Amino acid sequence: MNSFKELARQRRSHRKYTEEPVSQEDLKTVLSAALMAPTGKGLRKWSFAVTSDKTRIEALSRVRTHGSAFLAGAPTVIAVMGNPAELDTWIEDGSIAAVSMQYQAQDLGLGTCWCQIRNRESYTEGVSADSMAKEILGIGEDKSILCLIALGHPCDERKPQDEESLRWEQVIDAD
Ligand SMILES: Cc1cc2nc3c(=O)[nH]c(=O)nc-3n(C[C@H](O)[C@H](O)[C@H](O)COP(=O)(O)O)c2cc1C
Repeated sequence: MNSFKELARQRRSHRKYTEEPVSQEDLKTVLSAALMAPTGKGLRKWSFAVTSDKTRIEALSRVRTHGSAFLAGAPTVIAVMGNPAELDTWIEDGSIAAVSMQYQAQDLGLGTCWCQIRNRESYTEGVSADSMAKEILGIGEDKSILCLIALGHPCDERKPQDEESLRWEQVIDAD
């Protein structure tokens, strides 16, 4: 990929992946993008839980009744976490880190998809997706999971963004 414009045009969510594992080198590059992302006051208070364990990933794929099943086929999943009690920009900081990883992965020819965890119920009534995902990953209650980013070599064909249908009407000229 030779420009950010082209990267932005090509980026799509991928929910199907080959069996090929993500190399340690690529994983490190993707995580570096998160660790270099901008944060409120430069505090860098997020944390990331990384798993390539099939059993754990399978369990994560069943956390929500809808919207998480695709995780099952991902060779690697990264939980993006923050501490809401500690930082009022944990959602913004986590989102920027997550999207930075998505673009870095795209640049490496890898595919990603965001699975929402914050404010989502698990398949067990009254239990949040956050609590259940933390239990699977062995994460303490002091942290909250914003999202899970699935990472792998994509095997679903996705068309690039259609530049003709961009919602320019939602951009207001405020001059
Ligand atoms: C905040 C957020 C939450 C999302 N949650 C999910 C999700 O839980 N499950 C899922 O399959 N995709 C999820 N997605 C991916 C979106 O469905 C996807 O980005 C959107 O349909 C646009 O498609 P594209 O990424 O291919 O351009 C989420 C994306 C964002 C930004």
